[in-house]
Amino acid sequence: MIRQATMDDVEIISALIANYAQQGLLLPRAVQSICETLLNFRVAELDGKVVGVAALHILGDDLAEIRSLAIEGSAQGMGLGKALVAELFDLAELLRIPRVLALTYQEAFFTRCGFHVIEKGTLRQKIWKDCIHCRKFPICDEIAMIRHTSAATLKNEVADGGVRDQAAGGADAKPEDLFISTRLSALM
Ligand SMILES: CC(C)(COP(=O)(O)OP(=O)(O)OC[C@H]1O[C@@H](n2cnc3c(N)ncnc32)[C@H](O)[C@@H]1OP(=O)(O)O)[C@@H](O)C(=O)NCCC(=O)NCCS
Repeated sequence: MIRQATMDDVEIISALIANYAQQGLLLPRAVQSICETLLNFRVAELDGKVVGVAALHILGDDLAEIRSLAIEGSAQGMGLGKALVAELFDLAELLRIPRVLALTYQEAFFTRCGFHVIEKGTLRQKIWKDCIHCRKFPICDEIAMIRHTSAATLKNEVADGGVRDQAAGGADAKPEDLFISTRLSALM
């Protein structure tokens, strides 16, 4: 069962995230930060016990990120990770957010969830808002993956795939795009 997280779940959420953060698979989250953003979190229950967690974090008017996705080892492979992602994707749909992002090492899993790989350099909001504060920046080897909701327009979809042309000096490239693309390819 997937449900909204409550304050009763904070301890187990923190432990689930910490376990994978130690392995470098997730970014650590302080208990205070989990409490402050509790509305973003959903948990997966198995036999009345919380065994999984994930959160949807809004980055801007056209982008939300799936964060802190963690399923306890013994509960993996049962479809709970996919169910959590589906729940958060539906939330993004409900909120009319065009694109849902995952930064991940789990490319095969997110492909099964309907995501596709994009260039990290296209994620300006994410990079300037969060990545520059991350300990992995600028050497980040996570894969950026996107799934569009029904709120996506052609512009959103082109933006995810079109930056390579812009970076290569395509006819529609804006000076700002070229600057950011050049800087990011130097850093990443
Ligand atoms: C990645 C993770 C969330 C997957 O959760 P899960 O509950 O085990 O995955 P599910 O059972 O929902 O699998 C959904 C689908 O993805 C596939 N899948 C899951 N993990 C996979 C993997 N590592 N490689 C390939 N396919 C995988 C499953 O076979 C299944 O395919 P199907 O749709 O054809 O049945 C879980 O393994 C985990 O918590 N890993 C450690 C933390 C982590 O890496 N989190 C992601 C950070 S972005």
